[in-house]
Amino acid sequence: MPTPSKVLDRVLVLEMVRVTEAAAIGASTLIGRGDEKAADAAAVEKMREALNTLDIDGTVVIGEGERDEAPMLYIGEKVGAAQGTGPKIDIALDPLEGTTICAKAGPNSLAVLAIGEEGCLLNAPDVYMEKLAVGPGLPEGVIDLDKSPTENVQAVAAAKGVEPNEIIVCVLDRPRHEKMIAELRSIGCGVVLIGDGDVAGVIATTDPDTTIDMYMGSGGAPEGVLACAALRCVGGQFKGRLLFRNEDERARARKWGITDLDKQYDLTELAKGDCIFAATGVTDGSLLEGVKRKGKIMTTESVVMRASSGTVRWVRGEHRLNR
Ligand code: FBP
Repeated sequence: MPTPSKVLDRVLVLEMVRVTEAAAIGASTLIGRGDEKAADAAAVEKMREALNTLDIDGTVVIGEGERDEAPMLYIGEKVGAAQGTGPKIDIALDPLEGTTICAKAGPNSLAVLAIGEEGCLLNAPDVYMEKLAVGPGLPEGVIDLDKSPTENVQAVAAAKGVEPNEIIVCVLDRPRHEKMIAELRSIGCGVVLIGDGDVAGVIATTDPDTTIDMYMGSGGAPEGVLACAALRCVGGQFKGRLLFRNEDERARARKWGITDLDKQYDLTELAKGDCIFAATGVTDGSLLEGVKRKGKIMTTESVVMRASSGTVRWVRGEHRLNR
């Protein structure tokens, strides 16, 4: 367990929930309206407002994109009301993880945030990442991106004392995963296909109620770092490797100081030291209930966790619209 950070004040743990709640409520007015951009913009605006009320000297290290392509919450943006005086905090955020889900009123869209001391969260460029994750309680090193899906399933099955055909794997439903899905099914695995939202997909491996044993496949690198912050708190293993489609993406990674472009990252290399992870459900999902409006009251469900203590808090909020 990492030692508690003196920079991450305990009060910040609950403040994080205010921030993700604000973003989730912002996006909720656009659930099912078919407008991904508007939903994302609403979440971004509310998250930014909430971050700017905190007494921190914050820097967005994973955000909505680079400065020229994101008007707000871009990578490098300074947030917080105590610039130059408050604790220096690095922030990884996704105000609306699963924009398409929200626009279509599907399951598992979230407002997500992770914070750590300066330099603790990998400045992941907005490229794809090959991901492999399992929940807690398995021998260290049981998963490895250099092994095939079959070999990884066999290793996890052996560690759990079950047959490979009892292993359930969560995978993003994408054409690029067809070969992997066919291989998993050929050895009898159950494959849970999700339309979007791999932060929730990775976290699902840590919750026995979901019955998901493993997460496999490629998705956004920023989402990979966010998921790692959560696993640092509740346990589990994660392997990630950046995937580049062209020279421009490689150049972006180098710009953020990444020299070994083929590196297989471990959990603690993506999110190291003490960190805090918070999420609020936008739509109902495996992790959290979505925002609901009952008359003049909006209800939210959030989770906030800290790596050093391993404490996980579930927070139900009632927000009165007439106050
Ligand atoms: P957005 O919130 O940016 O829409 O991301 C949703 C998501 O499903 C992520 O969870 C995942 O990492 C990524 O998109 C996968 O990317 P792609 O849709 O290009 O396969």
